[in-house]
Amino acid sequence: MTLQLDEISAEEVHALAEKFENEPLELVLRWAWDRFGERAQIGTSFQGAGLVMIHHAVKAGLPLPVFTLDTQLLFPETLETKRNLENFFELKIESIYPEQTPMQQVAEHGPELWKRNPDLCCTMRKVLPLQKKLGELAVWITGLRRQQSETRQKTQILELYHFDVLRDRYILKLNPMANWSREAVWAYIAKHKIPYNPLHDRGYRSIGCWPCTRAVSEGTNERAGRWTGFDKTECGIHTFLGDNI
Ligand code: ADX
Ligand code: SF4
Repeated sequence: MTLQLDEISAEEVHALAEKFENEPLELVLRWAWDRFGERAQIGTSFQGAGLVMIHHAVKAGLPLPVFTLDTQLLFPETLETKRNLENFFELKIESIYPEQTPMQQVAEHGPELWKRNPDLCCTMRKVLPLQKKLGELAVWITGLRRQQSETRQKTQILELYHFDVLRDRYILKLNPMANWSREAVWAYIAKHKIPYNPLHDRGYRSIGCWPCTRAVSEGTNERAGRWTGFDKTECGIHTFLGDNI
């Protein structure tokens, strides 16, 4: 069940967010598990930060469930990475699918919707499926990092998130990787030999759906290879839902 507002106050959220700035990742994840159990889940697209969180959770014996939004437009390498991670961590990662298959979307909206209206495409293939999933949870654990882009610089480690404006529903968004650098994430992955998406070694710095992801040169904004040519920097899952409290 989604978060009820009498389960935690805005004051407590702010106080915990501050406290978590100086706590090790494992303790932050433990807080979520101890307080909310399986109503706290890790959402990942198998990029660096998610892998670090899953590794910490498994090492600490915290059976936090893991899910991914599979738009059915992912690279084959991403799907292979999912299988490799399931074997490595010995856990099942839940795939969440959109209501329409890519073919059904073509039938209703025409081919290559992402070229004409990427916001609608992302809404159908990511935002709405995520919104449905969040309706079952109290805590959405993400791999957002402040360093990723300008729009993410104000990310707090714990936020009360208005994820469903229509039905006035909230969730706790836990971003325990907010203060991690890209370098620290990748050093951790190398040290622990965690399987990762091979596209990272081919110049892809941020990886999403194949129609909307390009390889980019070092030094550019980490997410510059997403939706190149559009005035779009976010798929919407971190922005569509109104303001944080
Ligand atoms: S996105 O906005 O472009 O999709 P990004 O790839 O930077 O986001 O990932 C930021 C965080 O959003 C991830 O760490 C993860 O928590 C969540 N996220 C992004 N894409 C997915 C996905 N496909 N499935 C589940 N969570 C995702
Ligand atoms: Fe569609 Fe591109 Fe968004 Fe994927 S990233 S859902 S292909 S617009």
